[in-house]
Amino acid sequence: MFFIVLNINKSKIPSIKEFKDFMMKIVIPIALALLLSACSEENKSSSSQVKTAKEPTQKVEVVEKKVQETAVEEAVVEEVETVAKEVEAAAAEVKAAVPARTGQTIFTACSACHGADASKVALGKSQVIKGWDSAKIQNALNGYKDGTYGGAMKGIMKGQVTALSDEEIKAVSEYISKL
Ligand code: HEC
Repeated sequence: MFFIVLNINKSKIPSIKEFKDFMMKIVIPIALALLLSACSEENKSSSSQVKTAKEPTQKVEVVEKKVQETAVEEAVVEEVETVAKEVEAAAAEVKAAVPARTGQTIFTACSACHGADASKVALGKSQVIKGWDSAKIQNALNGYKDGTYGGAMKGIMKGQVTALSDEEIKAVSEYISKL
């Protein structure tokens, strides 16, 4: 460009046409080039602004996602807790309705000493319990359990009944009374 300017200076006086050419060929393209580069600079800076503006939005999105995930987790935990409570309630109902073991099942352990139909004198010492009514048997068994009933061999019977629940004592007593 300087070369051209110098050239123009050397030649006498530039004609209007020459000046016009100079403007068209040199000044305007340069001015346009400068203008374009300035514009692209602006674009660059604005695009970096977009980038920085994006970051907080992304953070908000991440936080939103986490909040949603936590809400879902809480809902699942709540649902599991509700189901667990329902299962517990159902289990309690079943337990209340049916004794843990039937009288017949419990009596299999007793029959070893008392006989299959409860007519034996256990270990040569006990009374024959066949024919006793349920209340009398229950009374004896509860007495062995809390130590308020029995003869010389009550220790043996205490070992037999301590693990039995009230329901199980009732069930086995009713079973024996019907033998
Ligand atoms: C190891 C043998 C043995 C087993 C098993 C056994 N008993 Fe006995 N049972 C005895 C003896 C011995 C006596 C007498 C105890 C005493 O001196 O009071 C007795 C007493 C009893 C009595 C009261 C009778 C009495 O003499 O006053 C009842 C009722 C009875 N047993 C029920 C049961 C039941 C129900 C079971 C099962 C849960 C059972 N027994 C298991 C040995 C046994």
